[in-house]
Amino acid sequence: MEKLVIHGGNRLSGEVEISGAKNAAVAIIPATLLAQDVCRIENIPNISDVSCMVRILSQMGAQVKYINKHTLEINTKTVNSYIVHHEMTKQLRASYYLIGALLGRFCRAKVALPGGCNFGVRPIDLHIRGFELLGARTNSEGGMINAAADHLTGSAIYMDKVSVGATINIMLAAVKARGLTIIENAAKEPHIVDLANFLNSMGADVRGAGTDVIKIHGVSEMHGCTYSIIPDQIEAGTYMVAAAATGGDVLVKNVIPKHLESISAKLIECGVRVTEYDDALRIQSDGKFRKCNIKTMPHPGFPTDMQPQMAVLLTVANGTSIVSEGVWDNRFKYIEQLLRMGANVQVDGTIAVFQGVEELMGAPVRADDLRAGAAMIIAGLMARGTTEVEDIVYIDRGYEDYVEKFRELGADIYRKQIRDDSAKPATAG
Ligand code: UD1
Repeated sequence: MEKLVIHGGNRLSGEVEISGAKNAAVAIIPATLLAQDVCRIENIPNISDVSCMVRILSQMGAQVKYINKHTLEINTKTVNSYIVHHEMTKQLRASYYLIGALLGRFCRAKVALPGGCNFGVRPIDLHIRGFELLGARTNSEGGMINAAADHLTGSAIYMDKVSVGATINIMLAAVKARGLTIIENAAKEPHIVDLANFLNSMGADVRGAGTDVIKIHGVSEMHGCTYSIIPDQIEAGTYMVAAAATGGDVLVKNVIPKHLESISAKLIECGVRVTEYDDALRIQSDGKFRKCNIKTMPHPGFPTDMQPQMAVLLTVANGTSIVSEGVWDNRFKYIEQLLRMGANVQVDGTIAVFQGVEELMGAPVRADDLRAGAAMIIAGLMARGTTEVEDIVYIDRGYEDYVEKFRELGADIYRKQIRDDSAKPATAG
């Protein structure tokens, strides 16, 4: 087991290259099951969530090989099982995408429910209802979700709540269903559009992704393709906030600025300078911040996955800032760690009130989940003195080479081996 040691106070400066999007990769890799063919996927982030998904597909019989660090070739011709056991799914929340993908491929899926989680109850009722509307019979037994149909039939599916995962899972199941599926009140996140583009490259007919209504005309056959994953919106946002929080000057490269508008807008409101280029953003900050209120919402609102990182910056903003969490019921657990670093925050349910303090002070803290872990890094970089972050296995799930990337920007951060080896399974984002 390792922890991070961060000596705070260095301004970040220079350039950082953003990797491929985690949340797109963990949807696109299972989507390869829909074609009995070879797919080459480029710009794959080198993170443990991806290795986990790759391992699951390999165990199911797919032939998966890395062409290079960021390019995967997946041959799914050899997959002949629709059963995925708990040992395979327990470490990865996104393993539930295997239900949609296997239903699409075999009209059958038996997949163990993903493991526990860190920011409240994470139901999958909308996924299940979607499968049922497509004609699948479902039940849950012994921790496994069972879904089966003679064939799937397109249907009109209205989502009671905007859900990224349910939108993706229904898309995966519907692309080979007979007839037309219409998903209304669909999620509009960048990785929904990326998945739709990937499915269309495989011969699917998906239109409207990125809007509230997605229309899918089922096709009977899909084929392999070569596809490059979009840059990671949240990784980019994390470096943007880290640059700002340390009073830095950083060019965040290989991004789609449109995906980052809500984050740029809030940084600008706080007094940070953001300059937009075609595929990069320059963040310049003097380390002084105005207060600002944030409400997280589905895309194009401010992303919940950027809430902890941005909240860290608000701990030292001038005045009182209010952060309202509009997606998850319980996403302020990490605030306990910030209090230990000297922040002044009151939490009441899904609202947190930040009274800006002069500075944070280094302390031993832990990563409660993936994005909370990223927030602890930012807090450590800003703080006076030394911060040690434990449970970094969460951060490893979603940020490629982050220690190296932060060091390249001038941060004093390194990994340190710790003796206690009571490793616990981590499930996040
Ligand atoms: C995805 C992201 C996660 C992010 C979240 C919201 C991945 C792998 N993970 O998670 O990092 O925080 O989107 O942007 O892409 N809900 C239901 N019933 C359902 C499904 C969801 O009530 O069947 C609720 C959830 O409890 C939550 C809200 O809907 O309150 C949004 O969840 P959802 O968009 O589905 O999140 P995930 O896809 O799990």
